[in-house]
Amino acid sequence: MTLSSDVRQRAETLRREIARHDRLYYVEARPEIGDADYDALYRELEALERQHPEIATPDSPTRRVGGEPLTAFDSVRHDPPMMSLDKVHTRGELMDFDAFLGRQLPGEQWSYVVEPKIDGVAVSLRYERGALTRAATRGNGEVGDDITANVRTIRAVPLHIVSEVSVIEIRGEVYLPKAAFAEMTRRQEEAGESPFMNPRNAAAGSLKLLDPREVAKRPLSVLIYAAGALEGVSFGTHLDFVAQLRQWGFPVAPRLWHCPDMARVMAALDELERLRHEFPFEMDGAVVKVNERACYEHLGSTARSPRWARAFKFAPERAGSVVQAITVQVGRTGVLTPVAELQPVALAGSVVARATLHNADEIARKDLRIGDHVWVVKAGDVIPAVETVIHEKRDGSETVFRMPANCPACGQPVTRRDDEVAHRCLNPVCPARLVARLEHFAARQALDVEGLGGKVAEALVAGGLIEDPLDLFGLSVAKLAQLDLGEGEAHRMLGAKQAAKMVEALARARDLPLSRWLYALGIPGIGATVAAQVAGAHTDLVSLRDSELLRDILRLETLAGEAASLNPRGRSRLTSPAGDGVRDQTVFDARCDELERLGDSLVARGQAKRASGRTRPPKYICEIKAEAARELTGFFDSDWGRRVMARLATLGINPRGAPPVAAEGPLQGLTFVITGTMSLPRDEIAALIRGAGGKVVDSVSKQTSFLVAGESPGESKTSRAAALRVPLLTEADLRAKLGDSA
Ligand code: IVH
Repeated sequence: MTLSSDVRQRAETLRREIARHDRLYYVEARPEIGDADYDALYRELEALERQHPEIATPDSPTRRVGGEPLTAFDSVRHDPPMMSLDKVHTRGELMDFDAFLGRQLPGEQWSYVVEPKIDGVAVSLRYERGALTRAATRGNGEVGDDITANVRTIRAVPLHIVSEVSVIEIRGEVYLPKAAFAEMTRRQEEAGESPFMNPRNAAAGSLKLLDPREVAKRPLSVLIYAAGALEGVSFGTHLDFVAQLRQWGFPVAPRLWHCPDMARVMAALDELERLRHEFPFEMDGAVVKVNERACYEHLGSTARSPRWARAFKFAPERAGSVVQAITVQVGRTGVLTPVAELQPVALAGSVVARATLHNADEIARKDLRIGDHVWVVKAGDVIPAVETVIHEKRDGSETVFRMPANCPACGQPVTRRDDEVAHRCLNPVCPARLVARLEHFAARQALDVEGLGGKVAEALVAGGLIEDPLDLFGLSVAKLAQLDLGEGEAHRMLGAKQAAKMVEALARARDLPLSRWLYALGIPGIGATVAAQVAGAHTDLVSLRDSELLRDILRLETLAGEAASLNPRGRSRLTSPAGDGVRDQTVFDARCDELERLGDSLVARGQAKRASGRTRPPKYICEIKAEAARELTGFFDSDWGRRVMARLATLGINPRGAPPVAAEGPLQGLTFVITGTMSLPRDEIAALIRGAGGKVVDSVSKQTSFLVAGESPGESKTSRAAALRVPLLTEADLRAKLGDSA
């Protein structure tokens, strides 16, 4: 057997295994392996495909997030159209539906299926001979948007199913799970942004993003419930169809009720309504469908909806309450969040006594006053929220809420930036912020200091032991053991055992990588994903502070803005004074040239991609976004940043990022792209190059010095290298340059 067929087989096995584990995790919710084992499979496949580009397949799990951001979505015509459902609000109307069917289907036997009605975004998925070929939104029902690239990032959507059927077009709902919505809301609030109203808006907003890489960060899921165009396959009943969907590996409703008659439908509706909070998705009712698909054609449809189904809406769950006070919470980033203190009410399975009001604009928009009677709902079925004010119940005693001018925790003045909805306390040593920052610093994704939760953080701040998270490194076991966690008179010490554990965890934290430290510092806008990206492009924290890359990214943004505003083709003639045309053109050309030079140099460093289409001005997409670069440079230039860096230097901590490029060596100043199989894995070849002062990037550009080509090199790389006259090196050539005698 040749090496390449071995490799091909291994890759195939890995793909199948990963798809199976995706299905177990995302569809069936019964994973068989842990994250680390899954990551190992994924990384092995990634490495194989990188070393042997010729074996990569379009439906490989490594290709979920692919391609460039789009500029717009293509249109897709739906055939048959994507219909909607006629709604009924009462059980009487359902009885009418049953009577209607009796008249339409004389002498026929039919039964019903009751299933949850998911509140998400309708989509159509098309598979041809088993491969996902297209995904589209509903649009107006006739024509929707082609969102294939975005839907491919949803791990619950199989990229491939085991079926040779020529066309299977199925329909369902993309949704953001309730727990993910709650987490997203928390983060948006923390960042001072306006959160999405509900999971449906969040899902719709996510699918509209033009950059699939951004979509991939949203933990969307999907649920399939209807058939569109089917060619070469048919089903007798809806239940048969659902069983087949399940077998193909699609997520379907977690519960379905097969009901021979309306009495059973009513019982099913009762049960479903009782279960409504148990599902991971938001549900706004039930769908009652005729099970026998043979009846569908005969029943037909109205202009909008099929006659074989009805949507039964549940009464919205809301409870009346009174806003007794509005308090203000201060988060880690200093964002002030107003919270309604409510007269406690039972709602959707729990007692609600507080509801976030997000920000001052929200309060103004709702015209909410202290003392108001309100309707309370649970946004996304989980987050208590004030839905509306019951204005009729006002008696004049209500008072208007004003955001405090001073932070309720530290008394420092509160500010609000023009471009933000949030009010912030900017005092870096504000005790409320400090407690929240400490918790963040110690969180699992950050420095993972076990035992440092909310209570301990509060006690550390209240006891005056900590004025900055880095003070943690100066605490002794003895001192920590004495920490009083009690409230009021009741004293309760942390104890020596817990204290020793914390000190050990902190000692381990010193050596954690740059990505974890960057995240732990809690710089606004630098979440775990951005932190990992930034850390991958810098060798350590000190070199990040002095980063040329971040400055180049910001300069690129400025140049792009200037070029766009000077663009003679994109500007209204009226605004440019007569006679300036020539000068404008010259300035525009100069900006474009500079933009191109800088952009291409970022591409050569593997830090940007040039958007497809040779537009002028050219467009680049940087790995690290300009906003992140701005936050980071802002941090290092601030008093806070300087203090942190000085402190870390004293503590002897300089977290490591990507392996360094040697400052000197035979390959200094040269940029390499690697393709094909060599005697060592690609990563190790890359390390050799870096060790000799060279740079390694992913794609061939004008800035590439050499393409190192092993056995079976990638077609696209070699042809691009030929077009750009980039010389090829064999592994032996490379080793000669490295000065290896071997
Ligand atoms: S069946 C011909 N089943 O609700 C339409 N739709 O308000 C067949 N929906 O357009 C749709 N859950 O987007 C069906 N279990 C379910 C559903 C469901 C949610 C959506 C669907 C439909 C809308 C109507």
